[in-house]
Amino acid sequence: MSSVRTVVVPAGGLGTRFLPATKALPKEMVPVGDRPAIQWGLEEAAASGIRRAVIVTAPGKDLIKAHFAPDPGLEAVLEQRGSPELAERIREISKLCALEFVEQPQPLGLGHAILCALERVQGEAAVAALLPDDLFSGSPPLLSQLIEAYTWEGCTVLALRRCSKEEISRYGVAAVEGDGPVFRVSDVVEKPAAEDAPSDLALMGRYVLTDEIFSALQATRPGHGGEIQLTDAIRSLAGRGRVVGVEFVGEILDVGTLESWLATNAAIMWQDPELGPALRARIQQLEETQL
Ligand code: G1P
Repeated sequence: MSSVRTVVVPAGGLGTRFLPATKALPKEMVPVGDRPAIQWGLEEAAASGIRRAVIVTAPGKDLIKAHFAPDPGLEAVLEQRGSPELAERIREISKLCALEFVEQPQPLGLGHAILCALERVQGEAAVAALLPDDLFSGSPPLLSQLIEAYTWEGCTVLALRRCSKEEISRYGVAAVEGDGPVFRVSDVVEKPAAEDAPSDLALMGRYVLTDEIFSALQATRPGHGGEIQLTDAIRSLAGRGRVVGVEFVGEILDVGTLESWLATNAAIMWQDPELGPALRARIQQLEETQL
């Protein structure tokens, strides 16, 4: 059993970068390959030994709940139609984690979303947090890499990836000490200008947060973009020597913008034994007709 049993999944954003597709459809439900983005995240959490997820949603995001609810009617139809494997895959979705939902009444930022989960995780020494816009591809699962570091260090753990100068201002960035792959984090800055970034180590959307984070969040004032930033609360823990960062093994695939979503879908389908050849043939055909 993992020493971290709950993951908090912020899913309350407005999805403005995906409009009009996300006018009624929560952006976490946009398909990546053959399943919604948020399902990839919960599969990673389950594979990391996490058994419970607190999903922080905005009002009107009931489709997320519906997707993870058992659907015996659909399973029965699939069995009758001779698709027992698909029926089993559908059954597994509702068994990934025990889900609880909390509403974030207003989109006041990532830090605020995490704070909305406080009541549900009180008494736990640490919780994981997973941003469903960042898909992980690789082994072992990214959250399990962070949980392992937490087991040794007993403090908040960040997922760090080296980024180019062009990309760095899209992320939180860590100032670190040591040689890695587990670094002591002395500071974090949310979305700095490239010339102000303290390193090239950017925060990806996975965290193990010790319970100290909640009092730090309660004391955090609006920061970058006028929002309550998780990075700013982590900064106050870092100042007390209570944060490490792991330069993890594996890859993050972003689905947070239309362009990155398209590229991630193409990358996933490219590797698929059935869809890959069809996709390549179609792209070749398109290239030929565009000449
Ligand atoms: C959030 C965090 C940022 C982090 C990023 C990872 O930003 O605030 O520190 O680097 O996720 O994807 P967002 O992408 O929600 O703007």
